[in-house]
Formats: sequence, C-alpha cells, structure tokens
Amino acid sequence: MVGKFIVFEGTDGSGKGTMLAKTAEWLFNSSIGHDKIVLTREPTFSGPGSQIRKALKSDKEPMTKAKQLLSLYFEDRKEHIDKLIKPALQLGSIVLCDRYKYSTICYQQAQGIPVESIVAMHKRLLVPDLVLVLDVDPKVAMKRIRASRSSIEKFEKDFFLGEIRQNYLNLKKALPDEPIKFIDANAEPDEVFLKVKKEIAKVLK
Ligand code: TYD
Repeated sequence: MVGKFIVFEGTDGSGKGTMLAKTAEWLFNSSIGHDKIVLTREPTFSGPGSQIRKALKSDKEPMTKAKQLLSLYFEDRKEHIDKLIKPALQLGSIVLCDRYKYSTICYQQAQGIPVESIVAMHKRLLVPDLVLVLDVDPKVAMKRIRASRSSIEKFEKDFFLGEIRQNYLNLKKALPDEPIKFIDANAEPDEVFLKVKKEIAKVLK
C-alpha cells in the first residue's frame, strides 16, 4: 500500500476526535507533501454502523448486547476497509481513522467477550502503520464528556471507562508486533498534540 494508515484510539472523553482534527489541519498545511488526507471513523454511519449508533443512543446499560455488537462492529469494519480505507491508501492518501479493531478488543472485552477470540477474528485484517492510544484518567474523561454533550451514551459510565482504559494498557500483550504508542492525554490539547505530532512525524519521514 502506498499511503499511511494512522489510527486514533482511547476511551470516550480521551480527546481523540480533537487530536484527529488537529492532525488533519497540520498535515494538510504542512510541507511534508501529502495532498490527500482522509478523515474517517468507526462505527461508520452506514449499514451495520447505523444500527450500532442507534443502540448506543437508546441503551443505558453497558453490558448488554455484547455478541450482537461484536458482529456489527466487525461487519462495519470489513466494509469500511474494503470500500474506503484500502482504496484511499492505494491512491497514496494518509488515512486518519477515529477508532479501529483496538476499540472492539477493549470495549467488547469489557462487555465479557474473551480477548483472544476478538484478536483471532481480526487476524487477517489490515494492520495500521501507527496506532496512537490517548490515555486519560476516567475522571478526566467523564468531566470532558459531561462538558461537551447533552446526553450520555451506552458506554459512558466511569466504572466502565476505567475497565476499558485498563484493557487499552494491556493491548501490547495481546498484540506485541503492532505499532501501538501510548500518549498521556490528561493535559491541555496543545500539549498533547505536540506528542501526537512527534509520533506521526516519525512514521511519515
Ligand atoms: P465514538 O468514538 O464515541 O463515536 P463518535 O465520536 O464518532 O460519535 O464511538 C462510539 C462508541 O462505540 C464508543 O463508546 C466506543 C464504542 N465502540 C465499541 O464498543 N467497539 C468498537 O469496535 C468501536 C469502533 C466503538
């Protein structure tokens, strides 16, 4: 593949959406020399992705529908890779993706699905060039969520975010060969972004 595939991960409230937007602006305006920057996210808004988004809004209890969500996230991801991510990489784009298989590994594991089985089902899927995990204290994350939204979604409870954060911190054990980097994201956005830039610059040079 000619382009670069960069994934942003972290719990709800980790600030990955903000970092992704700042990264896009920086890359688009920089002299690094890439004309095509593609911003995308999972779950998507079409097909299986739209079914997931309905469940996230209507459900209040984090532990329900684990198996059903697991297969919807997986189907959504396969379509996303085939229809958008791979074609964009073949054109030489930098693809910045908000969440990928690491979210399934951490969230659906917290819902009770064994980590080994989630890792195994994703074995044949495209591996990114860089995975940035924005690590925040769940209290900081809940504060950001409450300040930025009027309604709280299915997984946005502090006990649950604490468990997901722990699953992220264990990711390297489950996937020792993947390019996963952790970034302390408790600070102000500009400070966090300096660290994000540093990691991305290493991959693009
Ligand atoms: P989120 O990043 O909050 O969506 P957006 O900011 O685009 O509205 O993702 C939606 C929720 O879905 C979030 O709580 C994490 C959860 N999720 C999983 O549980 N498994 C997955 O595989 C993915 C991609 C997301």
